[in-house]
Amino acid sequence: MSFFRYRTLDEIKAEVERLGLSEQIRFASEVKKLLKPIKVGDREIWNSLGYHPMEGCDGTADGRPSALTWRRYERLAAGGGALIWFEATAVLLQGRANPRQICLTNETAKDFEAMLKMVRKVHKEEFGEERILCGIQLTHSGRYCFEKPIIAYHDPALDKKRKIPPDYPVISDSELDALQDAFVNAAKLAWKIGFDFVDIKQCHRYLLSELLAAKTRNGKYGESLKNRTRFACEVIQRIQQETNGKLLIATRMNAYDGPAFDEHGKPMEYPHPFLYGFGCDERDPLKVDLTEPITWAKEMTKLGVKIINVTMGNPYANPHIGRPFDKPPVDGYEPPEHPLVGVARHFNATAAIKQAVGDEAIVVGTGYSFLRQFLALAGEANKESGLVDIVAVGRGALAYPDYVRDLLERGQMAVNKVCLAVSFCTTLMRTKEHPLKQAPTGCVPRDPVYAELYRQISLKKQR
Ligand SMILES: Cc1cc2nc3c(=O)[nH]c(=O)nc-3n(C[C@H](O)[C@H](O)[C@H](O)COP(=O)(O)O)c2cc1C
Repeated sequence: MSFFRYRTLDEIKAEVERLGLSEQIRFASEVKKLLKPIKVGDREIWNSLGYHPMEGCDGTADGRPSALTWRRYERLAAGGGALIWFEATAVLLQGRANPRQICLTNETAKDFEAMLKMVRKVHKEEFGEERILCGIQLTHSGRYCFEKPIIAYHDPALDKKRKIPPDYPVISDSELDALQDAFVNAAKLAWKIGFDFVDIKQCHRYLLSELLAAKTRNGKYGESLKNRTRFACEVIQRIQQETNGKLLIATRMNAYDGPAFDEHGKPMEYPHPFLYGFGCDERDPLKVDLTEPITWAKEMTKLGVKIINVTMGNPYANPHIGRPFDKPPVDGYEPPEHPLVGVARHFNATAAIKQAVGDEAIVVGTGYSFLRQFLALAGEANKESGLVDIVAVGRGALAYPDYVRDLLERGQMAVNKVCLAVSFCTTLMRTKEHPLKQAPTGCVPRDPVYAELYRQISLKKQR
């Protein structure tokens, strides 16, 4: 099914109105404010547009960036967006979600340093001055580790999806204590090699995101919100201490987990009340309850977090929530709602977090790629109303890395370059039949490198 059939701004506006979403999704007539500089901490960057962290699954077996990783970041550096958020990077090899996830350790740090230098150099060559902000997302994949899942508690539906038996061990408090060191070490390395910020990743149900919803876990990392946020809180404090407060700290955080969905696009069975999601109404997990995400976001600003990137969902259990799409990935299902409803859910959550934290943090918005050539106009409307500070794209970064350059030079985005939200990137990500046990990912419809790769993989499957 293809939902996106809007050729003009009036057509998409009419659809938004028909769906009753005009309050949440609005469009400016031109992009102006987003192209102006913005202050982040004590830095000024040259516009308020950028790129979300997007894993390319193209690292080497020992966690270093490869030639394909370099190519992706080179395209972003030349694309014009001022915020370059480097992808999910494991803090230790066992924490990787796939065998080609990059990993920041003492052994690999030099490779990251070289790639970061290249990004700054390319940007300067293209735009004259270097006024970008580069950060890196630090992660532990928790239950989605490819070698051995690490779970913080049993979640009936997520366990079922990953075939985790009821007697599977849960990570202990002391093991979690020890894991904090890996985050702090990786953050120190990131600082040393010149990243402007680190993102303590708390989203998409990887380990720290799972902890945010650890209502059924006993001990010091479970039950109360204070305990559930303890890991991130202590890591943030330790990084501040060890970098003398000189490294900007960011977080990409789920404002809403949502329940798991089955292969038919139906929410899976859960006991009531629903105690397995962050930002979910316990009486009905299909409804968002931002009480705790807002409390935690405010608390994080007190801890000194300066950038909050608001996101939601679980790519393995409810992909339509995180990235509204027209066509599902191989392991997905047809969208159970109009994708614009998903976009509106993102905008609502971001606006609520922005309103709660005010000027204490820069808030980055997600969920824009589905809007294709109209995304920057929607971002501009949000920015004008103070509902977001920086607009970034995820899938759009793979399809159309130079979208900011086009906005700067031509005043609009090109229809023939936008993300089509047809999920080939996720399908490649899920492809393990590859000599390196993981296919790299990129934009199949827009980037010939990945079109060819996809063709080869499809041919192999047919044989
Ligand atoms: C191929 C692929 C890789 C992704 N990698 C990451 C990642 O490394 N870290 C992260 O937080 N989100 C990741 N995401 C999620 C995106 O950053 C983003 O939140 C999502 O695609 C929705 O934004 P969009 O509508 O602009 O695409 C990934 C998504 C896709 C499809």
